Parts: sequence; C-alpha cells; structure tokens
Amino acid sequence: MKILDYLKDYAEQDIYPFHMPGHKRNFDFLEGAEAYTLDLTEVAGSDNLHDPQGILKESMELAAREFDSYRTWYLINGSTCGLLASVYALSRRGDKILVARNCHKAVYHAIQLCGLQPVYLFPPVDEEFGVNGSIPPQAVEAAVEEYPDIRLAILTSPTYDGVVSDIASISKILHERNIPLIVDEAHGPHLGFHPAFPKSAISEGADLVIQSIHKTLPSPTQTALLHMCTGLWKNRGRLEEMDRRVSIALATFESTSPSYVLMAAIDNCVHLLADRKEALFHEYIRRINLFAKQTQSLKHIQVLCKGNDDKENHPLFYDFDPSKIVMSIRNLRLNSKEFETLMLEQYHIELEMIAADYALALTSICDTDEGFQRLYDALAEIDEKYGREIARPITPPPVQEVSIRMTMDAARDMPDARVTLDECEGRISRELVFAYPPGIPLIVPGEEITSSMIARLKALIRDGITVQSGYHDLPEYIHVVSFL
Ligand SMILES: Cc1ncc(COP(=O)(O)O)c(C=O)c1O
Repeated sequence: MKILDYLKDYAEQDIYPFHMPGHKRNFDFLEGAEAYTLDLTEVAGSDNLHDPQGILKESMELAAREFDSYRTWYLINGSTCGLLASVYALSRRGDKILVARNCHKAVYHAIQLCGLQPVYLFPPVDEEFGVNGSIPPQAVEAAVEEYPDIRLAILTSPTYDGVVSDIASISKILHERNIPLIVDEAHGPHLGFHPAFPKSAISEGADLVIQSIHKTLPSPTQTALLHMCTGLWKNRGRLEEMDRRVSIALATFESTSPSYVLMAAIDNCVHLLADRKEALFHEYIRRINLFAKQTQSLKHIQVLCKGNDDKENHPLFYDFDPSKIVMSIRNLRLNSKEFETLMLEQYHIELEMIAADYALALTSICDTDEGFQRLYDALAEIDEKYGREIARPITPPPVQEVSIRMTMDAARDMPDARVTLDECEGRISRELVFAYPPGIPLIVPGEEITSSMIARLKALIRDGITVQSGYHDLPEYIHVVSFL
C-alpha cells in the first residue's frame, strides 16, 4: 500500500486525534495544505537555512521575539537533530556531562557520538501514577560537588507526562560553576504563551532550549526550534562564539536540503502565535479547565493534577504542565493496552502513548470542545463499566542506579552475543533498550544488566507496551558483549 493511500484512508475515518502532531489535522489553522506546490529549494530569494540572510533570517528573528530567546534556529529534523547539535556544540570529547536518566534516546546518541562520560541524575518516581518526578536542584548541587569536572548538563522538562523541573534554581547552581544547561523542552513549546502554564526554560536561565513545535503547536511532524538564551553567556563576544558553535553543529547534523514546506509551516505557526496567541490560548485554557472540572466525577480513573487529583498531592513535582492528560488505569479491570484498544475501537479516540500504569492524551490549542467532550464521555463510561476497588500495584519503576562497565562506543565495538532475557543478568548490554514511546532508555550499551532492569522490561512486555532495541530481537533476545 502506498503511504499516501494509507494516510488518505486513515484521514477519512472518524478518529479523534488526542496525540501528536499538535495541528490535529484541524484545517482551520493549516494555511497552505497544498504542500506539493510549495516544495521549493534554495532559489533566488528563498534564502538558505544554513546561511540565513533573507526571508528565513527574518522569520527566525520573529520567532526569537515571540519565544523571547537571543537567537532561534528552525529545525526540520525534529528535536532529535537539535539535541545532537546542542550537545556537540557545547562539549569536547571525553567531557563529563550531567544527564537526567529520563532523557530521550537522542541525548544518549549524542553522548555516544561525542565520546562523553555521563553522570546520571535519577529522577524520583511518583508512587501513585508511576511517572518520574522533577529533577531536584539539591541532586544537581550534590552531583557538581562530587564531580567538579562536569562540563555540561542536560535534562528534560516538561517530561512526556508534563512534569516540570525547577530550571531557575538548577541553572543558577550550574552557572555558579560555569556549566551550561541544555533543556530538552520537546514537549513544552507552548509553555511561554499563557500564565496558566509553567514558565518556559527559555526565561528560566537555560542556555540552549530545544522544542518540538510539531508536538504541541500547530506545525507539521519534524518541525522544531533550537533557542539560544542569555543565561550563562552574557557578553557579546561569548554569545557570538556560542552562536557560531551551534551553527556549525547544526550544519553537521541537519539536512542540507531543508524542506521549504516544513519551514513555511514553522513560519505560519510563528505568525499565528504572533497574531492570535492571546485568544487561542485563552480558549485552550478554558477547555482544559472545563475538562479538569468534569473529571471530578470519575471514581476509578485518576487524572494527574486534574479532577480529584491536585498538584499538591505530588511533592516530587516542582510543577506540572496542565496540557497533558495522564490517566491512571490502576483502578480499572483493564491494562493500559486494553484501555488504549477500547478507546480506539469503541470511542474512536487515538491516544498519544500508553505506559504500564497510565495512558496519555496530548492536547493543543487546535483541540475542539467536541474533542475534549468525546474524551470525557469515554472516560466516564469506562470508569462506570470497568472500575475496580483495589488498585493494581505499580509496575517495577525505572532503575535508580546503574553500573557502567564500558563506554557506549566501546560496547558497540565488542563482539556480540545474543541471549534470552532469562540469561542476560550480569551481562553487559551492547544495545539501547527502550519503550517507544517515550524513547527513554531502560538499558544503555556498556551497562551491566541487573535483575531490576529485567523485571521492568518483562513487566512492560507482559502489559503489551512496545519495547524496542537496536537489534530488534526483543522480546525474545537481547544483545550483550561477548568476551569469548
Ligand atoms: C523528550 C523528548 N525529546 C526529544 C524527542 C525527539 O523529538 P523529535 O521527534 O522532534 O525529533 C522526543 C520524541 O518523542 C522526546 O519525547
């Protein structure tokens, strides 16, 4: 089947998209959908993404003003390319880098490519919902005290689930030691646009901030932004040097044939924000608040920080992004896979992601009253039909410590052995293992595989969560280092 046929077929079905991309196929917001007629390259007057002097420069300057950054670059290879370029720009081979363990796998690829030594910060786990909490500033402080040679730090905020870290305090701690901070804000490009959302890392002191505008704003898949801020680098000379380093890094990781369709779409999105953000975000917040109020009626499904739940119940969260709808299914007689299937087959709602203990619906300014209502009606019916009185125990949480036996690169170059999950305890992994989404590694190459890693992996597989690995031999086999 041709991809285009599949896409056309899918688009004709009555399925409501509570998932990315943020434009929700709502054509009220999508100017210029006749994409092919716009598919141009560098011709007279069209400027050049890698040496912007004309319309692209102008557009990126407008974005910098809208997002309040020192400089903004358009990305057409997603946040993935922004993360690779940011880590590459700010590190030197062999550097120690402070990394939140719940970073996306792109960060791990950057660490591998740049030959860095990770020092991990393990976010705590919220026992009720099974989601990661914020990175505590005290943990950052303790890490830089213990490892004074850390040169760079990177963390994700908000997380896929909407948990925000205290970027202002964390950047202050790091900047006192001259360490720049990269924030993966892939899930938070909407943050700066209404006071009901936590503040963006751009205004909280981060140095480079990467945002997937395709995830939560009206912009197509693959479009993203890289913002440079004046956190650590205050004087002009330093800013210009960093500007050059980031530009060179982007030239390394980003396509030399950037799609004008995508760049035009980013430009549309930025203009839409410039022209209509107040009204659009006002309506959006109204919908979120109404939905949150409706969910107070649910007896079994808990919605994180909405309805009968509250931010105050989660001391491990510094803050929470209310755009995320995280539905705990621990009090249902359905596992998350069954919940997802029911949502799709019975209510024609496609969710963004399921994890072992919850499901996630992603919202944006393009959602409609009808969409939110459809989601609430489905939840109310499922809550009534499938409730159970005693909550299922939480799935084994992500690991809180790891033993790094060799670098990722060294593990890649070692001879390979393929073993079953029952045989891999104590072996050194040769591959990255992750649930997708969210693409956060469960096991990293070079690490010793422990019984708790295996327990979590098995629990996820049992619950129907998609677990992937480099060699694609899971769930049967995992690839480890062979010393033979
Ligand atoms: C936290 C996080 N960072 C980065 C990425 C990569 O973003 P992109 O798909 O725009 O390359 C993702 C993708 O899901 C993500 O969840």
